[in-house]
Amino acid sequence: MKVLLIGGGGREHAIAASLVRSKHVDRLYCAPGNAGIAKIAECVPISVMEFDKLIDFAKSHAIDLAVCSQDDPLCAGIVDAFEAAGLKIFGTRKNAAIIEGSKAFSKQLMKKYGIPTAAYEIFTDADSAEEYLKTKASFPIVLKADGLALGKGVLICKDLDEALDGVKEIMLDKKFGSAGNELVIEEFMTGREVSALAFVDGKHYKLMASSQDHKRAGDGDTGLNTGGMGTFSPSPFFTPEIQKVCDETIFQPTVDAMAKEGRPFTGVLYFGLMLTEKGPKVVEYNTRFGDPETQVVLPRMESDIIEVMEACMNGTLDKIDLKFADNAAVCVVCASGGYPVAYEKGKIIHGLEKLEGQGDIQVYHAGTKFDENGNIVTSGGRVLGVTALGPDLKAARAKAYEAVKEISFDKMFYRHDIGKAIDEA
Ligand code: AMP
Ligand code: GLY
Repeated sequence: MKVLLIGGGGREHAIAASLVRSKHVDRLYCAPGNAGIAKIAECVPISVMEFDKLIDFAKSHAIDLAVCSQDDPLCAGIVDAFEAAGLKIFGTRKNAAIIEGSKAFSKQLMKKYGIPTAAYEIFTDADSAEEYLKTKASFPIVLKADGLALGKGVLICKDLDEALDGVKEIMLDKKFGSAGNELVIEEFMTGREVSALAFVDGKHYKLMASSQDHKRAGDGDTGLNTGGMGTFSPSPFFTPEIQKVCDETIFQPTVDAMAKEGRPFTGVLYFGLMLTEKGPKVVEYNTRFGDPETQVVLPRMESDIIEVMEACMNGTLDKIDLKFADNAAVCVVCASGGYPVAYEKGKIIHGLEKLEGQGDIQVYHAGTKFDENGNIVTSGGRVLGVTALGPDLKAARAKAYEAVKEISFDKMFYRHDIGKAIDEA
């Protein structure tokens, strides 16, 4: 098969590595890709939102399957566009991708079908949101811009002043653009977070190995929310008992609810869960693989990814035995100083060659590119994800941190406590 992967982050590097491992893939293209993906695929300079150009490329290169796992193109209908052009694509159609694209939609879905989540109210104007905060709210409280905001449209506000500032930022100043036309205000939950990713075929789902992300920029969960600073898999807190509760109260009910709504979900459904004292609840849904969850989940997957994707598209996922290795993985993200706010680009990355060819260490590139002299330089906030595999979480973590020491670029930073929770398990 000839496959076209659409995207160019650390998640896509991990997906590309799985695709290359598949016995069905002869040739892999990636649009736009990055400097790391370029080692295993042919990168094509087309951006993820240029649907017409991507479709032309797929047709002219006789692509058998396209794969997209990024929120913006999925929510904008890339799957529908490819299908309308008669092309095969793995991903979620627009009418189902709304489960990530609109937090108001997902909250209403959960309420309608009794899926456990934080209590909430939805507002379409700032005055009523402010009135609610002044008269009915208890603090801390969580404000969420309705639409896509690069994972940054969620504000946790400790008191009324912070919450009023938040309403202004999201709804009046439009810090996240039109994503802030509607606002979800929801109850603050406490508990451990787990990322549960599932392949879904419209009716059935198969759960991948669990993982946990670290969303704040700084050690000890301090600083701003980011796209994710590191992950580990499996989560020792996601026990078989908890999984059973989630199967019955969250996973299958969500897949069934989407089908009942006439929005059958096909692709990868990401359940962001909080294990609260009152049981597991949904924090968010994403319509795609997580980043950097994918960088610890896919290296552990033993099944052939093409066979699983085809089963999702054919509605035969129930016939698949989805297999993961009985090991563990830890990924530490190396980021540019100043991320997630302002940071410089174009810094030469040193030390990558020292980590090449080690089977249990994978350096997934996120924001990297080649400069005019052929050096690999930084081109984004999250630059690399260094993943190590080991027989257990502690071994994987030690190896990941040893590997990170080999890498350097000007103003690089990373969290030192990825996987610290393992010690409490
Ligand atoms: P989201 O983009 O919805 O995943 O939110 C980003 C992060 O904000 C989550 O991973 C949580 O750490 C936190 N968060 C979101 N909603 C809540 C909530 N209701 N209670 C506590 N923390 C939350
Ligand atoms: N790591 C969080 C996400 O992919 O949304």
